[in-house]
Amino acid sequence: MDKAGAPVGQWSSRFAFLMAAIGSSVGLGNIWKFPYMIGTGGGSAFMLVYLACVMAVGLPILIAELMLGRMGRQGPIETLIDLGRRYSGSAAWGLIGCVGVLAAVLILSFYSVVAGWSLAYIPKLLLGEMSGLTGAQTGEVFGSLLADPWKLTFWHALFMLLTIIPVARGIQAGIEKAVVWMMPLLFVLLLVLCIYAAIEGDFAAGMAYLFKPDFAAVTWDVVLAATGQAFFSLSVGLGTMLAYGAYLPANVSIPRTSLVIVFAAILTAVLAGAAIFPIVFANGLNPSEGPGLVFVTLTVAFGAMPGGALFGAVFFVLLAIAALTSSVSLLEPIVAAFRGRSSLSRSTLAWIGGIVAWVIGFLTLFSFNIWSDVHPLGGTRTWFDWIDFLTSNIMLPLGGVMLALFAGWVVSREDGAAILGFESPLLFRLWRILVRVVAPVGVVAAVVSNML
Ligand code: TRP
Repeated sequence: MDKAGAPVGQWSSRFAFLMAAIGSSVGLGNIWKFPYMIGTGGGSAFMLVYLACVMAVGLPILIAELMLGRMGRQGPIETLIDLGRRYSGSAAWGLIGCVGVLAAVLILSFYSVVAGWSLAYIPKLLLGEMSGLTGAQTGEVFGSLLADPWKLTFWHALFMLLTIIPVARGIQAGIEKAVVWMMPLLFVLLLVLCIYAAIEGDFAAGMAYLFKPDFAAVTWDVVLAATGQAFFSLSVGLGTMLAYGAYLPANVSIPRTSLVIVFAAILTAVLAGAAIFPIVFANGLNPSEGPGLVFVTLTVAFGAMPGGALFGAVFFVLLAIAALTSSVSLLEPIVAAFRGRSSLSRSTLAWIGGIVAWVIGFLTLFSFNIWSDVHPLGGTRTWFDWIDFLTSNIMLPLGGVMLALFAGWVVSREDGAAILGFESPLLFRLWRILVRVVAPVGVVAAVVSNML
């Protein structure tokens, strides 16, 4: 147990930290969401803006979050209050942490529903239900899963349970151990799928769709969606990395570690895209299919390849595990935020947080069946669409900007430099410009222009 109120346990080594941080960032966002966002965001245009956002905004803010965590060494809200008092005499900075907690609950609520789909696909694959199906047929299988609220409720509950238990126990050891070999295995599987897609799919069309620059398709909508996706896929903007950074061993370089995390996130996303789109085009599927894209396309490949039932089942197990190492990092900051201020135990808080997120998850769960025609604020967005939009495109970017401003303007230059230990002063200066000016201006422009 962590007596000092440690939010995530002490990382035993740099490697353990890396795995936990990569585990947090690599998840449904990279494998499930990124490909369908590319599909609905116009292909390569989305890819371009996403990569630019990750490098110019996501990476510097990731560095900022880890830096603040290392400086504060407490849960996210306490850290922000303490550092705020120290540098500006104001505890109001703690509010960023509160918004972060709200965002974490909302993201966890839909995350668990979608991760539940992945769990549901494991027995489907194992039982051979996908063998030899066409794209239209895998679409039907997916559709009938979504149409059944009871089944979805079961898988949603199971996934939330799997998230609550490790957080309640406060041990990362088990997860750390699992992640260490499962994340690499997931990479290998994605690689195999890419090779399959290259041979059997329409590789040229897939690659052109992903990488052939199409500047004309870059609209403000695409910019905002890609900005949101940059935050979501790196797990920045709500304090997850701030909580994880609190227990970073002192000898670990934050800038270098951040680069590794970013690289892993981009690589997974690109591999997922490279595996999916050749199959989409070879089978006449719709790239802008939406949230079902991964489930509809990859199962066509699993159904056609030798040993695909087992291979596919393993894939969805690993996807669920990738999701689990991310969902744990969503529940953890919620628990950490309340620990300092209530006498409830870690375990009780984990259960309360998980159950609240589970209940809110029904807004998402019903969005795919009985409430698919309910548009809470008019327009075309369902509850799921709204929660997704609000968290990824508004709360994470604005939360991230506040953290960037705090790290860039409020924390003193000397302390920042000492904690970060950049190898060259030039890079440190570049980072300062990015968090002080470029990221805030860029993100606010994207959000505001979208509202106009
Ligand atoms: N990054 C995870 C994914 O891509 C989701 C996630 C986990 C997250 N923790 C987060 C997103 C904190 C934003 C903030 O699937």
